[in-house]
Amino acid sequence: MSATRLTRALFYGAATLRGVTTTQMRSVCSRCSSCSSLCSQKGAQRDLSLTAAARQFAAPQLKSPVSGVVSSKLRNDILEVKFGDGTEGRLPFVWLRDNCQCPQCFSVEALGRKLLLDDLDIEIQPTEVQESIDGLIVKWSDGHKSEYPTKWLQSRSFMPASRAIHRERYALRKEPWGAEHTMRDFDYNTMMSDDRVLLDWLLTMERKGSAMVRNAPKKDVAGPELIEHIAYVKQSHYGPHSPVINRPNTNNVAFTNAKLGMHNDLPQYEHMPGIIFIQCVAQHPGAGGESIVTDGLFAAEELRRNHPEDFKILSSTDMYFWDKGHANYSWEMPEFYKIAKFPVIRVNGNNEVVQIAVNNAIRDSHMDLPPQEVKKYYAAYKRFHNILYANAMTFKMEQGDMMTLDNVRCLHGREGYEANSERHIESSYLDWDEARCRRRRLQEKFGCFF
Ligand code: OGA
Ligand code: ZN
Ligand code: ZN
Repeated sequence: MSATRLTRALFYGAATLRGVTTTQMRSVCSRCSSCSSLCSQKGAQRDLSLTAAARQFAAPQLKSPVSGVVSSKLRNDILEVKFGDGTEGRLPFVWLRDNCQCPQCFSVEALGRKLLLDDLDIEIQPTEVQESIDGLIVKWSDGHKSEYPTKWLQSRSFMPASRAIHRERYALRKEPWGAEHTMRDFDYNTMMSDDRVLLDWLLTMERKGSAMVRNAPKKDVAGPELIEHIAYVKQSHYGPHSPVINRPNTNNVAFTNAKLGMHNDLPQYEHMPGIIFIQCVAQHPGAGGESIVTDGLFAAEELRRNHPEDFKILSSTDMYFWDKGHANYSWEMPEFYKIAKFPVIRVNGNNEVVQIAVNNAIRDSHMDLPPQEVKKYYAAYKRFHNILYANAMTFKMEQGDMMTLDNVRCLHGREGYEANSERHIESSYLDWDEARCRRRRLQEKFGCFF
């Protein structure tokens, strides 16, 4: 017997013992929102006994019983519900109607809403509410009847805990780090063969934005092969991967032997690649070619704390990023001319930092600013730059190392090296949409939401 069916059987048994029915169709009187305290008092007595009975019989056998909706109360366009396990929900009427789970309103195959906004009355009111071990049945003022499973309601309860869970399902909380950080090591072949290790890498990338993959095979497509194992390669006009060598007739400053200041790759794209894979196919043997990495999120928060005016300037002033050139290889776009425009520090509606775009080579000489604001902008930018460098770590990659970085958060750079060096780096990209998608599916597969 499944856990749910066992709980239900025990629940029904308990209810029968006490001479009450498990579900009661409660008509919502026109005064109900004003007399809700009375209604809920009556409901509470009944609910308490039922819940207690269910707990008494079910608790020893089951770790987390599915205990239904045990009471509900209408208050200001919100249906306040109590679940049998003691948790609560605050469910707006319009949201409930919009998210009716019946086959007419929602496709269970496509997992998508069929109800059209045209057919949604935002003033909708419930006329009857029925609570049960299975969830809620609501009859509406438009004549429609909706059913909602308990678990479905609990995970969308609008309470802080359920909102926090879904926020993490969307994107794990980032953990900023400074110069003392050491990247975690992962083994290339184990990532390819063991999905638990792959999940560990995905979780690490979301939280820390950085990890080192060791023992990558000595071939130029090791990055794309790993990315294809995870999801899809994110292409650019440089194709699916880029040989980072000292190219003749180069189309990018990165493809020379010059020192590169710390940067994020490809801000000339409105949608910058999410994760960069920087593989060391061959390292320069002498001095030169060392890597430098920093957490742009850490630096942005430092800037916000200590120089709020500069943070405001960098997060509210659009910069242009551009890239005009020609192919060096057959897989590159023959002629390209990109221009993108957004702030160096991008924040979302909650003022959280969601993207860093620093790249001195790609930053455009065009500035869409009144001239008197330019020097102030540079001062803010330089301050940010200094914080980035004050919290950076340096190391030298060896053949087989593949540094993986959250490209919209962490910055990377390299020391210059001799012009005729055999040094060979390969870069390739994976988007965050795909990485998070894989993380969610692997979490489901292993049932681990750590
Ligand atoms: C790049 C880059 C790093 C390196 O190609 O964008 O940052 O170590 N390369 O050469
Ligand atoms: Zn419906
Ligand atoms: Zn780069």
